[in-house]
Formats: sequence, structure tokens, C-alpha cells
Amino acid sequence: MMKRNLHKYAVLCAVALLPLNKSRAQTKVSEATINQKINQIVKKMTLAEKIEMLHGNALFSSAGVKRLGIPELTCDDGPLGVRDEVLRFDWKSAGWTTDSATFLPNGSAMAATWNPALAHQYGIVIGEEANFRKKIVMLAPAFNICRVPTNGRTYEYYSEDPFLNAQLAVQAVKGIQSQHVAACVKHYAVNNQEEDRNTVNAVVDERTLREIYLPAFKAAIQQGNAYTLMSAYNKVNGYWCSENAYLLNKILKKEWGFKGAVISDWGGVHHTVEPANNGLDIEMGSSGPYDQWYFAKPLLAAVKAGKVPVATIDDKVKRILWVMYHTSLSANHPAGKMSTPEHNHDAYTIASEAIVLLKNEKFLLPLRTNSIKSIAVIGDNATRTFALGGFGAGVKARYEITALQGLQNKLGKNIDIRFAQGYRANYLANNTPEQNAGYDKPDQSLIDQAVALAKTTDVAMLFIGSNREFESEAHDRKDLSLPFGEQALVDAVTEANPNTIVIVTAGAPYDLTKIKKKNHTIVWSWFNGSEGGNALADVLTGKINPSGKMPFTFPAKLKDSPAFALDTYPGKNLTTPYKEGILVGYRWFDTKKIEPLYPFGYGLSYTTFEYSGLKADKKVYHSADRINVALTIRNSGGVAGKETVQLYVSKGNSVVQRAEKELKAFKKVMVEPGKTTTVTLSLSAKDLAYYNVKAKGWTVEPGQYKLLAGASSRDIRQVGTITITK
Ligand code: BGC
Repeated sequence: MMKRNLHKYAVLCAVALLPLNKSRAQTKVSEATINQKINQIVKKMTLAEKIEMLHGNALFSSAGVKRLGIPELTCDDGPLGVRDEVLRFDWKSAGWTTDSATFLPNGSAMAATWNPALAHQYGIVIGEEANFRKKIVMLAPAFNICRVPTNGRTYEYYSEDPFLNAQLAVQAVKGIQSQHVAACVKHYAVNNQEEDRNTVNAVVDERTLREIYLPAFKAAIQQGNAYTLMSAYNKVNGYWCSENAYLLNKILKKEWGFKGAVISDWGGVHHTVEPANNGLDIEMGSSGPYDQWYFAKPLLAAVKAGKVPVATIDDKVKRILWVMYHTSLSANHPAGKMSTPEHNHDAYTIASEAIVLLKNEKFLLPLRTNSIKSIAVIGDNATRTFALGGFGAGVKARYEITALQGLQNKLGKNIDIRFAQGYRANYLANNTPEQNAGYDKPDQSLIDQAVALAKTTDVAMLFIGSNREFESEAHDRKDLSLPFGEQALVDAVTEANPNTIVIVTAGAPYDLTKIKKKNHTIVWSWFNGSEGGNALADVLTGKINPSGKMPFTFPAKLKDSPAFALDTYPGKNLTTPYKEGILVGYRWFDTKKIEPLYPFGYGLSYTTFEYSGLKADKKVYHSADRINVALTIRNSGGVAGKETVQLYVSKGNSVVQRAEKELKAFKKVMVEPGKTTTVTLSLSAKDLAYYNVKAKGWTVEPGQYKLLAGASSRDIRQVGTITITK
């Protein structure tokens, strides 16, 4: 499967804009030809036609120019898959029967795979399905840093680490764009909370911006060549992201050389002249009258009044045309396909690598299916689907295998599987707090039924966690507590059946303190896509050896997390100072020596891995060198498994503040039982640089650096030292 698509990827890249086997020089000619065509078209356009292209003309499109053959710029939401067709001027479903799509695992699930090849795979599925739906731009991937663990969109995003985010974002973008569909990377930038998201001003120092919040965007633009980018709702350092000259003109377009179009988040524009001059290209939003929008009649008037140069308007139009010539107007544009068996299989593969084994103290997993006669499947999440829900984008999934269905598919013939609901998920994202009141209370009669069932079976599986209503765009959770009285259910069922397995389905950190202490078997799953239930059943039964690792730190308590420890969330007077600076996620916990509940990068396997022999290819490196680090991984257990080897770097005695350690490389490898493999991790000495605020650039500080290779950020198995010279 992987090979099939990787091959296809290579071929498609080659034929994207020119016939096969053309030289690089000719590729450039091809770009030049495109630019020539674009210039010719723009010369023929009236100012009014140009302005029409710069703002929405419906919920998910902006106008083209029919007489010149310029199509509408159509777009659709990700990142969980290609959203169903909504009405042109209303969020209601258009009622199509051809828009059922593949539901792909959510962003933090993708990050938990630690597998960039799967992010590429994800991108291909999105691209193929977007083509089937004739969408030019896909509003994905989304990868804001997980700064606030209660952020309602944590599930959509990847991780708390800029490097992991960048590796995944680049591949997701490349995958989408290999199908001649534009990725729209979002939300640029520093959009780390939903509370006050439309108004909050994130105050971030320059170094933190450069080291934590921008690297994945930079990589998506420079390495991934993302064709479009979405400006975020919030302000950064006093300026709305949609009119932030520093973020858009200076960094994105000038420094990073972004050639594509900047699209506003929906309704995220506040003026005409400022965003027009400061780097925004297209205004999008949710309701008309469209000709009254900032980038419609008022923009025309502003140009006529000389407040926005015509050259600036031309530049925006050229950017949009450039996107089109690489997508809908490109040569060899693929037709697209929808929810194919291959797509389903890709969703399965991602899901199966995303599941994280948190605890397996009694080796209850993988299940001994030969001797187990009965299983109690307990909990609302066992029968719930996650493709849709709450506020924000979802997918009309062609199908979604629930956890219960997955288990029945796999074990139903030989094992008596019985279900009890266990708790009521009485919570809707769009309800008022009053309407949701009492959602956290246990339902004693459901608990009693669950306990009665659990007493009669060999194994009890508890499906708890959250759902797509409880984790939702436009809302943050108020704390880390498990909802719906789940803890009471866990306590009661655990008491009733000694073979209780807790399976948490969620997209963000929760407080599992008591469960971690009292329960011997804990598995973490996600909003895991169309094949989520099948992937989970295969992990529980050992067909798949779990290999997911946590993409974020689980704080033991919310106050341990930097934004809460420093009382900067959600901010005062609509301002949130990022006082923790570069110490986000594990960088904070490690530097401040705070024990997390589960550390970044944590996840167990049904086998064990031994690390040995870490060796860098040199002892001393120049700041322009590459650093190659090799180590040996031995599968010392009884079954084949995948391990993600994580390489962190630590700089003591630095001239600037440093995090205790920072992730600089990782690799996921498959190792057969009893076998060893050599893992080589490669980084550039430049990757060790800090952002030097005075010099306004990156500085590689000379001196000693520690190389820390491990199975998680807190399970360092091998240490080495290298020296960097000037
Ligand atoms: C979200 C974007 C999304 C857009 C269109 C906004 O509310 O922030 O991520 O793409 O709506 O649905």
C-alpha cells in the first residue's frame, strides 16, 4: 500500500507541470511560462474583475473571471477529511449523495504515529478526494502548537513540539499537493486557544515566535511548498493576523519566499486598507452581503482613492493564478477518487500506528483470545462515531467502524461480546452552560447495569474519554477532568472485574491520575477515522503491536502546565502574555523539573527494545556540518514491533536560556524479535541554533552539546557528547 502510493507520488510530482524526464532547467522554464501566462491574463483584467477574485462569493469559494477562463477558487475544510458539500450560502448540508468521504484520524492521532510517511499518505487521500469533489484548496493541515492542553482544537492539531509538527506538516502538504490540490496550512500564527480566539492578543517575544510557533509553518512553506496559508483569527503582538505586516509581508512573503496566496480565516478580517497592504490576499467569511466585505466594494474604493496600490492588487491576483496553475489549471490534472478501498486502508494504517499503549502491567494485552469466552464492552464511546460533532469541520464518513463493531468483526464469532452504555454523554458543544449542566454527573443506574454485566464476563473493556461535542472548535475545556462521571464508572467496573481494560478515546490530554494509579491496563485511542474500531481491535488482539507515542505532555494537574502556572491563560483584557517563552510542553516540564503524568513521546509496546552503542560520526563539528548519529536497537521481546527512536539535544552553560532538551530528530523502525537494527539519525549543526534576537538571525553557539536518545522525552537510554566549533 505504502509503496503503491509513494511510487505514485514520485510519478505525479514528475508530471505535475511538465512531461517526464525534463531537466531542472526546463522546470524553471515551465515556471517562467506560467508567470508569462499569468502576466498576460492580468493585463486583460479590469480592476473590478481583480477585486472580485479577492473575496468570498459564497461560503467556500471566491470568484473567477469567466471571459478569461479563470475558474472560481473552490475550497473545503479538512483536516479530518474532505468536508461534505454545504449549501452555497448556508452551512447546512447540500444533501449530496456523492460526498461521503474517508474519515481520517485526527491531527493528534497523526502526530502520535510519529510517522511522516503516513502524513504523506494522509495527504494523498485528502488530495484525491478533494479532486473528486473539484476542490482547488483544502483547508488543511492544521498544526498550531499545543500550548494549552485544554484547547478545544488540540485534537485537530499535531503536537507541542515544533520539530515533530514540521516533519508531519511538510509531508501532509506534499501529499495533498502531489494531487494538484493546494494545501492551506493553518492557522498562522500563535492561535493556541479557542477562548477569545477572535479577539485575543498573543504577546510573544521574537525568539519564542521563531523557535516555537513559526518553524512548522516555515517548513511547510519552504520544504513543503504549500500553495496557500490561512491567517489566524487572533492578534499577535498587537496586530490581527490577517493584517500583520510582520508575519505576512516580512516573514512569510519576504523571508520565506512564499509565492502562494494568504487566505483569511472565516470572518477574520477587520479592515480594508491594512490587510490589503500588509499581506492578506483573499478575504473569506461566513455570511453576505459579499459585495460589502472589506475586500469587495470598500477595496475597490480604497484602490481608487490611492490607499492601496494597483500593483498590490495585481500581486494578489497573480498569487491566486499561480495557485491555479499548480492545481486546477495544471497539466495532467488527476480526476480524483472517493473513499476507495485504498483510502480506507490508509485510514486503517494511520489509525493502527496512532494508538498508544499507556500501561500493560499484568500483560493482559494482547488479549488471549483462545481462552477468553466473554467480554463486557462498556461505555458510550464504544458505540459512538467521531467523524462529526460539535462546532467546526467534520466529515460525512462513508462509514465508521465503532469500537464495538471492531471487536465484533474480529472476535464476535468465538467470544460472547455484550454491551452496556455505562454513562450518558449529555453535552453538546453548541449548548449553553445551563443546558449542559450536570453533564459531569455519573448515571448510577447505567453504572449498576455495567457492573452487573462486568461481573459475568472474563474481561471488561471500558470505553471512556471524550467525543467530538466535548472537544470542539470555538470552546476550550474548563479543566482536564474526565467528563460524564466516567471516573465513578471506572471505579465501579474495576472493582467488579479484575480484568478491566481502560480504553480512552480523546484528542487531547485528560486527567488520568487515578486510572494510572489504580488500573493495570490502559490504552489510548483517538478520533481515529473510518477504520478506528478495526484498528483498535487489531491492537487489542495483537495483530498490530502498538507503536503510538504521545505527541504532548499530560500534566499531572493543569497548574503544572506553563500557561496555567504563570496565570496567562486565557489572558486579561484580551491579552495573553506568553511568559513561559520557549518553555512550552516538555521544554517547560523538563526544565522546571515537574513530573508529568505522561511525558511527551511516551508509549509502550508488546515487546521491549534495548538501546546501545550511540555514536556520532565525529567528535567535533563545524557549524555548517551535518551530524550523523547511529545507535543500535534490539528487539528483546517476543514479537515484532515498531519503535520510535527520539533524539533530543541538550546545551548546558549556554549564553541564552535553553530548554533542558529539545527534539532534533526521530525515526520509526520495525524490528523483528531477537534482531537488532542500526538507526541513523541525521541533523544539521544549524538545527542546534537559537534565534539570536540582537543579531536578528540564527546563531549556532560553539561548545559542548549532549545527545540524548530515548524511547520518550523522559526515558533517555543513550547519551553522547559532541562539540561544535565556529
Ligand atoms: C476555522 C477554520 C476553518 C473555517 C472554515 C473557521 O472557523 O477556524 O479552520 O477552515 O472556519 O470552515
